Amino acid sequence: MNQTAELNHRFASADFLNFEEKTDGFVVANLTTPFATASIALQGAHVMTYQPAGQPPLIWLSKFAKFAPGKSIRGGVPVCWPWFGAHATDAKLPGHGFARTVPWDLVDARMLPDQRVRLVFELEQSDATRAQWPHASTVKNTITIGQELEVELATTNLGASPFELGQALHTYFEVGDIRQTTISGLEDCEFIDKVAGGARKTQQGAVNFTQETDRVYFGTRGHCEIRDPALGRTIVITSTGSRSTVVWNPWTEKADKMGDFGPDGHLAMVCVENANAVDDVIQLAPGATHRMTAQYRSIKA
Ligand code: BG6
Repeated sequence: MNQTAELNHRFASADFLNFEEKTDGFVVANLTTPFATASIALQGAHVMTYQPAGQPPLIWLSKFAKFAPGKSIRGGVPVCWPWFGAHATDAKLPGHGFARTVPWDLVDARMLPDQRVRLVFELEQSDATRAQWPHASTVKNTITIGQELEVELATTNLGASPFELGQALHTYFEVGDIRQTTISGLEDCEFIDKVAGGARKTQQGAVNFTQETDRVYFGTRGHCEIRDPALGRTIVITSTGSRSTVVWNPWTEKADKMGDFGPDGHLAMVCVENANAVDDVIQLAPGATHRMTAQYRSIKA
């Protein structure tokens, strides 16, 4: 039995879940609930789409995204783990860690009594992952599809010594027009401005977008709002277990160079990433579990 047939045999339910091979070796779970539809790639335990019933998609997926084993997907909810950005000491290791480009196991899939659907994934360890991350650990990604999209990333240290953990839920949100979009909830937070050579600054008022924006905010408070007048909605983000928030839009020139945004693709997205990065990396003690959670919902503006 191939992987898709096996997943369908073990987990599929005519009511809410089926699996398909989108491209060669690239398997996707399709979910339908009374509240929303969604799709999740087994590679990276990567939420690709999430669309609340009767609304535009909440999550942006590039029309030019590539779906291939070992390649990261432009859009959705990439899991950056076990480091964020460049590796601290080895530039040859992949940016944002390896979790988003390796297979994860689906360990549970069920409809909850309130009709939300929950899938639990665990990263498959291999010689290749152990070569990059020599720490005994598990990481689970629990994704719940309902009126909100909920994601929980739980990392457990199974070894005898502490390790350093960096991570992010690198979520791409769909917006009507980035040039009219603002983000509140980061007022007065210190941030690193990567576009200004890593200068440290303090956020004054809401964040708005007039050029490439690439920032890591610190001491963030677990509640952000993306105000989107063009789509007439506000996306509300609540989170726990992360003290940094990354805000990113590549703008025209960088998006063109990246090759998987398409013409003007950057106008329709913004990344707001709950993270533990730079100043906020986690020191995880032996036996301890760290949980980072994020909930996303939209309200009419
Ligand atoms: C953001 C980083 O989180 O991810 C940016 O702050 C980076 O610097 C962006 O360009 C996209 O990264 P990637 O590896 O998915 O192209």
